[in-house]
Amino acid sequence: METKHIGILSAMPEEIGETISHLEDLNEFKFGDLIIYKGFYCTKETKLKVTLAWSGWGKVSAARAITRLISSASKTIPIDLILFTGVAGAANRTLNQWDFVIGEQIIQYDFDASPLFPKYVIPAINKSALICKKDLVEIGYLAAKKTISNVTFLNKNSVKKGFIATGDNFISDKKTMEEIMKYLPSIDALEMEGGAIAQVAIQENIPWIVVRTISDAADEDASEDFSEFIKKYKKYSWTFIKNFIDIFLNVK
Ligand code: ADE
Repeated sequence: METKHIGILSAMPEEIGETISHLEDLNEFKFGDLIIYKGFYCTKETKLKVTLAWSGWGKVSAARAITRLISSASKTIPIDLILFTGVAGAANRTLNQWDFVIGEQIIQYDFDASPLFPKYVIPAINKSALICKKDLVEIGYLAAKKTISNVTFLNKNSVKKGFIATGDNFISDKKTMEEIMKYLPSIDALEMEGGAIAQVAIQENIPWIVVRTISDAADEDASEDFSEFIKKYKKYSWTFIKNFIDIFLNVK
């Protein structure tokens, strides 16, 4: 039987949480200051190869980590899918802490090569909106729904298929947020890595998905809310990742 292989990335160790402790035949590979973990997620029926790492913050670190992750895979078991998961600031005022945003599309809001290219267009791929495949958005959606039903205190939370904006800024004031939203009024969540992951995955021709849980409102309280949230989130990140890979294994 062909072994499926998923690459899982987050910016911070808390966003990977307990995932590593659920893998069998675990191995560690060091590339400078980046550690890539490889192991297997085993159920009674099947086995999934998992390669994972935390990238560090921002687009450059994310691009470096996904590139290393993809090239660390053997030709016999290449990576079938990259899942990037973690937390984000809410841009959509209807979203609250612990709500999930499944990235239907992602934009690098700080990319601007105008007037040579329209604002936000990444010349290498001639695109601004990076679109996730519908079947993967559905897996992310079902996994997030299952997560909020698994965890009692999340039962009232929502899951939104939405629009994620990436840039090298931690947004913590209304003015900056309004400036971004002036041009992109329909964004749901703001974060610092997803757009880089999506770009590299598109260029490398590997399916990808970005899923975020809201940690703060990208306002003046953002840094405090984020710091408190990430400590709690650490306990639940595996719940979402497990649900995602269980569904991925069943549909693929
Ligand atoms: N990730 C989590 N919260 C964020 C924020 N407010 N801005 C950018 N990235 C974030």
